[in-house]
Amino acid sequence: MSLETKKILLGISGGIAAYKTPELVRRLRERGADVQIILTHSANEFVTETSLQAVSGKPIRSNIWDKEAEAAMGHIELARWADVILIAPATAEMLSRLASGSAGDLLTTVCLASEAEVVVAPAMNRVMWSNPAVQANRKLLEDRGVQILGPDSGSQACGEEGAGRMLDPQQIAEKVMAPKLTSVSSLVLRGKTVMITAGPTREPLDPVRYITNRSSGKMGYAMAVAARDAGANVILVSGPVSLVPPTGVKVVNIESADDLLAAAHAEVAETDIFIAAAAVADYRPSVRENTKIKKSADEITLSMVKTPDVLATISRLAERPFCVGFAAETDNVKDYALGKLTKKRLDMIVANRVGENLGFDCDDNAAVVYWRGGEQAFPMASKAQLADDLMQLVTERYKLRNSEEVIAANSVARD
Ligand code: CTP
Repeated sequence: MSLETKKILLGISGGIAAYKTPELVRRLRERGADVQIILTHSANEFVTETSLQAVSGKPIRSNIWDKEAEAAMGHIELARWADVILIAPATAEMLSRLASGSAGDLLTTVCLASEAEVVVAPAMNRVMWSNPAVQANRKLLEDRGVQILGPDSGSQACGEEGAGRMLDPQQIAEKVMAPKLTSVSSLVLRGKTVMITAGPTREPLDPVRYITNRSSGKMGYAMAVAARDAGANVILVSGPVSLVPPTGVKVVNIESADDLLAAAHAEVAETDIFIAAAAVADYRPSVRENTKIKKSADEITLSMVKTPDVLATISRLAERPFCVGFAAETDNVKDYALGKLTKKRLDMIVANRVGENLGFDCDDNAAVVYWRGGEQAFPMASKAQLADDLMQLVTERYKLRNSEEVIAANSVARD
């Protein structure tokens, strides 16, 4: 948790998710933020100034023509004051106004007049979010350097199911208050390609059945977002998951371990860092029937064969990328993880315990990372936060390995 004082100008626009903003303010303040709120006219329909003033400890701004407030801190001073302008929730209307450079009210005027980093957390109905006009605005803002957090997918206030929910206040606060994925990371990773495998694989038995596992893909997807935000080109090779693909990332969809092997090898020549977060099936049915297996005998036996170990085949290439593995274990976590580090010739391995409500198919995770001669523990955090922290460590170790290789090459040249 960061205790630095970050000055956050929180703009709240008029969507139902505005009811979560008092909670967001609390999560920001407990991380040491100083929060000044601007409420748009329509946001006032969803959340009251009284609650927001109580949790932020500051008078709420909403009207650019408010002479008293402008005399205390004018809109230009507000624009200069902020380290970060966070707009949560950001409605479709707000994205459109930001994209067009409108200055029709206090919040949009301050955005135009500020040099602060702008972060938005969109929230709207799933059909609105997928509308090409909204996506074009999202892309335009992203291209201009605005950071887009979420949206999340799941059940929506309108009763529908899909992508469009505002990210959880806790996750927004963690992202906004995290030390920037530093200029060091972005310098190291700019122009580099990070390939990430994510999700489960499906190993077919017949045209309608397959064997799979409980991986949700959340950790791999969070790693892809973290690598993208750290400035890398990202290729996400994904098994079947129900997650919204992150923007600005090349996604290659696969089903089986064999597909994963082919997809990973097709892209590896361009890859500088390979992160294997997929939960690849270790065995597949030895025969894939062409027609549906019919129910006949009381008992049947399934014969299975080993699948290729994608990570091990990549780490054994002559021109190998920096290789990071994941080890999800129910027991003997450290021993198994260290065994895999050596056996698969990895640069790093991220180990975590899995079991009931732990690791798989949930939003939080804790991990210990091992490499030859070192280890670092990461306490329980959201997968998004953990991914940012892991990416930071991957970048540091990658940079170190490269500089060691340069020193080794120079000393060979001198000998
Ligand atoms: N992995 C892979 N291809 C496989 C199996 C695993 O690329 N066929 C990768 C995983 O993505 C992970 C690492 O290898 O990064 C370790 O996976 P894990 O399933 O924990 O290890 P296994 O070698 O399969 O050993 P076990 O299942 O016995 O624990």
